[in-house]
Amino acid sequence: MDDVTDTVFRQIVAGCAAPDMYFTEFVNVDGLQSPGRPKLIKKLRFTAAEQPLIAQIWGKQPDNFRETARQLADGTFARDIGLPDGVNFAGVDLNMGCPQKTEIKNGTCAALMNDRPLAEAIIEATREGLAGRLPLSVKTRVGFGTVDMSWIEFLLGKDLHTLTVHGRTKAQMSKVPADWDLIGQARELRDRLAPGTLIVGNGDVLTRQQGLDLAAKYKLDGIMVGRGIFHDPFVFAERSPWESYTAEQRIALYDKHVRQFAETWQDRERPIQTLNKFCKIYINNFDGAKELREQLMRASTTDELISILETAAASL
Ligand SMILES: Cc1cc2nc3c(=O)[nH]c(=O)nc-3n(C[C@H](O)[C@H](O)[C@H](O)COP(=O)(O)O)c2cc1C
Repeated sequence: MDDVTDTVFRQIVAGCAAPDMYFTEFVNVDGLQSPGRPKLIKKLRFTAAEQPLIAQIWGKQPDNFRETARQLADGTFARDIGLPDGVNFAGVDLNMGCPQKTEIKNGTCAALMNDRPLAEAIIEATREGLAGRLPLSVKTRVGFGTVDMSWIEFLLGKDLHTLTVHGRTKAQMSKVPADWDLIGQARELRDRLAPGTLIVGNGDVLTRQQGLDLAAKYKLDGIMVGRGIFHDPFVFAERSPWESYTAEQRIALYDKHVRQFAETWQDRERPIQTLNKFCKIYINNFDGAKELREQLMRASTTDELISILETAAASL
């Protein structure tokens, strides 16, 4: 999730309860292959703690997908990020589902549903860049304006390693519940058209058990959890301790996040306001949480945040 699942948060999640795999935020290939590269490459940063990690990319120009895929597969990006030899991404995922205005106006992401020749060119260019070195997957929705399973059929004709299906149309944004019956239909299409492609379901999963139940009900190969992590950083645990986490433990977890953020993102590489989302996750469900959150959200440096958290912990 953009501005959420950066290397810092993925490390926090790994320390709570690791999922089977992680995804980067979506990263624009046209930007990566431009002079703007140094600004964007931060979205690809990761550590050996967050593995396996899939790089999710988006954009417009097939040539930039090809070159980005090549650099992801041959370890160029991993080296540029400063990772040791042998540590690399585990796969490349194409975002064909983001419904945001800017991306749609640009003809990218979910808009590719309406430009299948370009979608095909992007998939083929990425495949060429990867040259079999990393698996290729796509994440998408079940239609643009209305449900359109011919789009899923189209993607199933592209010999993908994995297809992640978010059970909403682009037009539905996040406004209605995800339709898991449609995800089940995508799996049935897969059985018929592309038995070698894995199907992952996505949308509104809040607990590990709910995900396991949906995977069993619809015979899916995997479940992707997005916003569920906002409700429980231990969402991937067999038994999450989150409900009974004390104020002290919650403050300590945010403190860990802020310190890691300060160490990772120097020189204002990421605005401190991006931490506010996490403040809402951790500083919750105890007496005085609201007041503490308000205080934390007014802070303008990580040092200030740490000092407020230390004072709050000492006064418990
Ligand atoms: C803040 C935010 C950022 C997101 N960024 C991305 C992204 O970069 N790439 C992507 O594939 N989906 C992105 N999504 C969509 C989620 O991955 C997911 O498909 C959607 O929220 C539905 O699943 P959920 O109910 O498990 O969150 C984002 C969602 C949110 C709320």
